[in-house]
Amino acid sequence: MAKKQLRVGLIGYSFMGRAHSNAFHQVNHFFPSTYEVIPQAVCGRDEAKVKEFAAKWGYKSVETDWKKLIARDDIDVVDIATPNNLHAEQVIAAAKAGKMILCEKPLGRNGKEAEKMLKAVEKAGVANMVWYNYRRCPAVVLAKQFIDAGKLGRVYHYRANFLQDWTINADLPQGGTGLWRLDAKVSGSGVTGDLLAHCIDTALWLNGPVTDVTAMTETFVKERTHTLTGKVEPVKIDDACSFLCHFTNGSLGLFESTRYARGHKALYTFEINGEKMSLKWDLHDLHRLEVFDYSDTGSERGWKSVHVTDGDHPYMGKWWVPGLAIGYEHSFVHQVADFLEAYAKKQPAHPTFRDALETQRVCDAVLQSAKSRQWVNVNGKPVG
Ligand SMILES: NC(=O)c1ccc[n+]([C@@H]2O[C@H](COP(=O)([O-])OP(=O)(O)OC[C@H]3O[C@@H](n4cnc5c(N)ncnc54)[C@H](O)[C@@H]3O)[C@@H](O)[C@H]2O)c1
Repeated sequence: MAKKQLRVGLIGYSFMGRAHSNAFHQVNHFFPSTYEVIPQAVCGRDEAKVKEFAAKWGYKSVETDWKKLIARDDIDVVDIATPNNLHAEQVIAAAKAGKMILCEKPLGRNGKEAEKMLKAVEKAGVANMVWYNYRRCPAVVLAKQFIDAGKLGRVYHYRANFLQDWTINADLPQGGTGLWRLDAKVSGSGVTGDLLAHCIDTALWLNGPVTDVTAMTETFVKERTHTLTGKVEPVKIDDACSFLCHFTNGSLGLFESTRYARGHKALYTFEINGEKMSLKWDLHDLHRLEVFDYSDTGSERGWKSVHVTDGDHPYMGKWWVPGLAIGYEHSFVHQVADFLEAYAKKQPAHPTFRDALETQRVCDAVLQSAKSRQWVNVNGKPVG
């Protein structure tokens, strides 16, 4: 039987554009579904470069204006892989055009923007999903299965870090291609929206809602030359952020992110300590889940490292043979596979825009708390 086609229009063709394009191809090979993903068109502002990308990644056509891409009748799904300041406008236009939408994280630059985006997709009734891809690493899904099965018992602590070191050089400019993350007008925030948003999304998924937070942020380099204006301008992003929080399940959260941890490039780790079991995960070793099971007999009790590569581990039966590891890019393939499965069943594909708005609310509360030096509820109100 001929498969139904889902024709994708991608906007933005750099880091995430490549990760998504790879996923659109691989999903058809490894996760057969009633739907086939067709890389239909890609949009970028530089015609020569976008044509080169289309040829390399098998897109049938190109656009240099994203509004034209969204208006096309031969596009079913709009995939947004552009800097954060463009997400809201592009999502709202795509929703009005009745397209399904995949949007990169963070959903918007702040909760207000994200709320408008959520309203637009819910009003249009279009399928929507945000690319919080770390939920799709097999070892992280295995942690979720252990938690949902009640293996941890009462949870006491949730701890997460996301550490990098690429902005330590004070001569690094801000703004423009490759450096828009340092320009708060474009990014919305620094490590909070960029890195902690990932940690928060995983935490909300694994450990449930957060009630309130207390945070501190720092901007270590206060001024940088702006690539687009050529002028030295104040830096308005948070270079580092640490926060504490309460979860509704009674556990305590501790989160840290920085781009000033010399030696760390992308160290995302989390640990959950429950009454009966603790779990640890590390992006550098992403196919392993570290497990301490208190029910093991005394002399055998200790941390064990589960190599999450067996055929009955999440997603792994679709890949090679037991024991062979997969990597970062596969999390995106899994996310598309889950989107297709959910779409076929007419169910939401998580994290939806609604889920991502919750992450955004925690990020907003964190930034507000750092400013006010007070505990803040995730609804934005000071605690007290
Ligand atoms: N899920 C993840 O793990 C992950 C990782 C990295 C980035 N991201 C998110 O993905 C998004 C893109 O990040 P990136 O690292 O790929 O950025 P990038 O700078 O590598 O790529 C951005 C792309 O958008 C294009 N673009 C900019 N303005 C445009 C316009 N007006 N019209 C069309 N195209 C335009 C650029 O030319 C470029 O191709 C961001 O929201 C970021 O937060 C997510």
